[in-house]
Amino acid sequence: MNVLVVGSGGREHALVWQLKRSPGIGHIWCAPGNAGIAADAECVNIDVDELEKLADFAVANHVDLAVIGPEAPLCAGVADVLRSRGVAVFGPSGAAARLEGSKDFAKNFMLKYKIPTARAATFTDAATAAEYVKGEFASGAPAVVIKADGLAAGKGVLVAEKEADALAFLAECFEGAFGAAGARVLVEECLFGEEASILALTDGKTIVPLVSSQDHKRVFDDDKGPNTGGMGAYSPAPVVTDEVMKRINEEILQPFLHGIQAEKLDFRGVIFVGIMVTGDGAPKVLEFNVRFGDPEIQPVMRRFEGNWLDVLAKVADGRLSEAELVWSKDAAVSVVIASGGYPGSYAKGFEISGLEDAAATGAVVFHAGTARKNGKIVSAGGRVLGVSARGASIAEAIANAYAGVEKISFEGSFFRHDIGAKALKHLK
Ligand code: AMP
Ligand code: GLY
Repeated sequence: MNVLVVGSGGREHALVWQLKRSPGIGHIWCAPGNAGIAADAECVNIDVDELEKLADFAVANHVDLAVIGPEAPLCAGVADVLRSRGVAVFGPSGAAARLEGSKDFAKNFMLKYKIPTARAATFTDAATAAEYVKGEFASGAPAVVIKADGLAAGKGVLVAEKEADALAFLAECFEGAFGAAGARVLVEECLFGEEASILALTDGKTIVPLVSSQDHKRVFDDDKGPNTGGMGAYSPAPVVTDEVMKRINEEILQPFLHGIQAEKLDFRGVIFVGIMVTGDGAPKVLEFNVRFGDPEIQPVMRRFEGNWLDVLAKVADGRLSEAELVWSKDAAVSVVIASGGYPGSYAKGFEISGLEDAAATGAVVFHAGTARKNGKIVSAGGRVLGVSARGASIAEAIANAYAGVEKISFEGSFFRHDIGAKALKHLK
């Protein structure tokens, strides 16, 4: 089977890495890919938003399965375009991708299908939204969460403990800081607890969770500093006990499946549910994404021991119930190495040293933002690498991942030192 993976980050590298190991795999292309992916797949110079070009390429090269990584092309309808040209796709239709593309659409879906989530109100004008925010603080809310409705590359959310911060962010949204994505704004109740990521495969008939994971969204140790795309992840997440997982399945995943069926949404892909496990163990949905989480998928792929190609192909074909998911009992950890300044502005083009030494420790280094320049691998993004390792316990996996991390450097590079520490607290 020939596969085209669309995307260029650590997520796509981790997917390609598993696909390459799958029995039955033929040729793998990745559009556009990156310098690390180029070692495992043939990179194709087509951008993720060039939908027709992707379809032309897939048809001309007899691609049997297209696997879509990022949300933007999914929301733009890439799965529909490819399917209309006869290509099998792992990824939801554009209509179904609105579950990520519009937070208002997702909130209404959750309310309709009784999926537990934060209370929220949606606004299209600044004055009414500001009045509502003032009312929330006046009635004793410790914080509110402001969310731009549309896709904003992770920057459209603020958890505001101060009224002034909330009002300033609201104003930014309505003044166009996020373009059309901020013309509609949600103001949400702030939930407290511990977050976890549940990635669940669905073909619209069955829904099957992958092993649990947890991301580290803040840029600095101890969850300090601004939010990022994710600075590291581990799997499993001990906060997701068997009891919590049972509740997630009954209260979130099954109603989700029922909802996409009732709404006739063509969802053949992965639903990534961002969950807050609140104080009493009740899981509530923070957000839906219609793609694999990055870096979450990195440790999850490290733990997968079955035929990933077969699983993705069966999802695309509506036969998920026949797929076999095999997991290692090992834990896995992935630590992101980022460019100095990220998630703000940063410089690119620095030569990366130590990649081979890191691999020699047994770690697998997924490339997120790298390029090849004059025969050297250089930094080319905010998140540059994800250094992943397995271990018999989370503690061992953490030690193994950092043994790899320590070998790698480039000018200005940094990483969090406490990836996985929260898991250890649970296990004490
Ligand atoms: P989202 O893009 O909706 O996942 O929001 C990004 C991050 O904001 C989440 O990972 C949480 O850390 C935080 N967040 C979002 N919604 C809430 C909420 N209702 N209560 C507390 N934190 C939230
Ligand atoms: N790591 C969070 C995300 O992929 O959105």
